[in-house]
Amino acid sequence: MTWFESPILAIETSCDETSAAVVVGRSSLSNVVASQVEMHRKWGGIVPEAAARAHVESILPTVKEALEVAKISKNELGGIAVTNRPGLVGALSVGVTFAKGMAYALQIPFIGVHHLEGHLLSVFANNEITIEEHVALIVSGGHTELVHVRGLGEYEILGQTIDDAAGEAFDKSARLLGLGYPGGLALQQLAETGTPRHPLPKGLSGPTLDFSFSGFKTAVARLVASDSSLSRPDIAASIQETITSVLTDRALRAVDSLNAKTLSLVGGVAANKMLRQKLSAECARSGITFLTPPLNLCTDNAVMIGIAGSWRLAIEERSGSDLDCFSMADL
Ligand code: KG4
Ligand code: ZN
Repeated sequence: MTWFESPILAIETSCDETSAAVVVGRSSLSNVVASQVEMHRKWGGIVPEAAARAHVESILPTVKEALEVAKISKNELGGIAVTNRPGLVGALSVGVTFAKGMAYALQIPFIGVHHLEGHLLSVFANNEITIEEHVALIVSGGHTELVHVRGLGEYEILGQTIDDAAGEAFDKSARLLGLGYPGGLALQQLAETGTPRHPLPKGLSGPTLDFSFSGFKTAVARLVASDSSLSRPDIAASIQETITSVLTDRALRAVDSLNAKTLSLVGGVAANKMLRQKLSAECARSGITFLTPPLNLCTDNAVMIGIAGSWRLAIEERSGSDLDCFSMADL
């Protein structure tokens, strides 16, 4: 494992957070996240055009703050890392255009980073972990993937969702319960006061490593509509119990199938307390090392992009002025 030695400015604008961070090696000196959640909440979801415009407004103050907090002048930067795929193209292009301009002005290298590689490498932030090969469960608003990380940069998808992502299952269920957007955390909080008494479908059966949450979503809609006197905390607890047990089962199945020694849990849904507890307990029981980042590095942030960029720049990778943005991209 090798990391870039000079300070790197990292920028993340793939969705609804404008984030900038300064990273040296794998240590974060700052992590500024300007969330657009309040704006999108009005519409009950992300409006891509509005997201892109909001990034334009917040990118400069966010970058300035990241440099100030890190007490680093722009002239001390040795490189820039920026998310260029996958994500909302209008939103991504704000970060990418900014990074290109700044790298050109400062005459320093820059690197386009895959958002999911950022999530994968978030477990290496601010620590000394050297484990490379492991199984990773990436669970976010847009992705649910089980990945065999053979080593940094060598990723094999073991399983993925065939319809909705786990975060979407949380968000859509939360909306049905009137909890607003994004609903993962609000649903977790409501679930803490309830009991999981309603059985809900767990999606695909059999030995698969794929996921399906569309039948689950329909069942939640039916359950909510069936009887307005049902306890909302109980419904929330049932939702959380079902989603977390499906994710836990599949992740452990993947670990078993490869006889892996380490499991990581990353992405926004990795902030879910019950999921963290279940996976950590199961791993402890089976003697498997469990890695997961602190809560603020689960949801979208620029530190994870900086860590991935720090590694890619250290192995001499560089992007050029023709770096493009992509709504979809293989890991
Ligand atoms: O990684 P992320 O910030 O953005 C994407 O790359 O999509 O993930 C956001 C997702 C949302 O669906 C949000 O509801 C979910 O993470 N989330 C949670 C929790 N905190 C965030 N889901 C369940 N429990 C939480 N505590
Ligand atoms: Zn993400």
